[in-house]
Amino acid sequence: MTIPNHIAIIMDGNGRWAKERRMPRYYGHQEGVKSLKRIVKCCGDIGIKVLTVYAFSTENWKRPVREVKSLMQLMEQTFSDDLDELIANGVRIKILGDVTSVSPRQQRICQTAEERTRHNDRLFLNVAFNYGGRMEIVHAARALASAVRQGQFTVDEITEDVFAQYLFTKGFADPDLIIRTGGELRASNFLLWQGAYAEWYFTDTLWPDFDIEEFEKAIASFRQRERRYGSIKDK
Ligand code: FPP
Repeated sequence: MTIPNHIAIIMDGNGRWAKERRMPRYYGHQEGVKSLKRIVKCCGDIGIKVLTVYAFSTENWKRPVREVKSLMQLMEQTFSDDLDELIANGVRIKILGDVTSVSPRQQRICQTAEERTRHNDRLFLNVAFNYGGRMEIVHAARALASAVRQGQFTVDEITEDVFAQYLFTKGFADPDLIIRTGGELRASNFLLWQGAYAEWYFTDTLWPDFDIEEFEKAIASFRQRERRYGSIKDK
């Protein structure tokens, strides 16, 4: 089996990593961005085509204002200061999520990142920002219902493939492997539709400590899996 085409990551454990060092949570997120940059670079080097990361969920707004603010600042910083480097590395950015309800400044930053990287095709980096899997499915259902009302489809023409065209991930193949760091064993509303047949890899390693060696371990584990998609091995 070859390497996965599409890897998705729940980058969990930044807060605990900072706490272990008696540092503010912000520091953990800052180190988390460094970790992300390492993995982005590695994906380009080893030929992973799509990387989707969970940067900010629809539920993360419930965190203390100070932490939300610091996460927003980090996003802004990364998408402005590091954009040239991402472009030089052939990275194309796409934001997955409800960008219409974030501040105009954040909307502009997201739009600029997508626009300035639009000619790249070495690595597609999807950043789930203000993202929730259920919200995405409801959003798609509404858009599809509206398309039916306008006569673009009949109800009977709605298939899984048609539905997938209304998700934020339109045009991308489903993730082959979903990695979750930080020791929790749950999906946390991430890629609920797209992850239907993904292989999961869980590690206790906190995200800022997740290095290339760990990443390669996850890929090696994926390569040992037998993917049957509901079928059986010998028919
Ligand atoms: C989970 O750790 C992590 C997040 C909610 C944010 C992850 C975001 C980044 C690494 C920055 C993303 C930036 C860009 C530019 C994409 P946690 O805070 O829940 O950790 P804990 O479980 O230890 O408290």
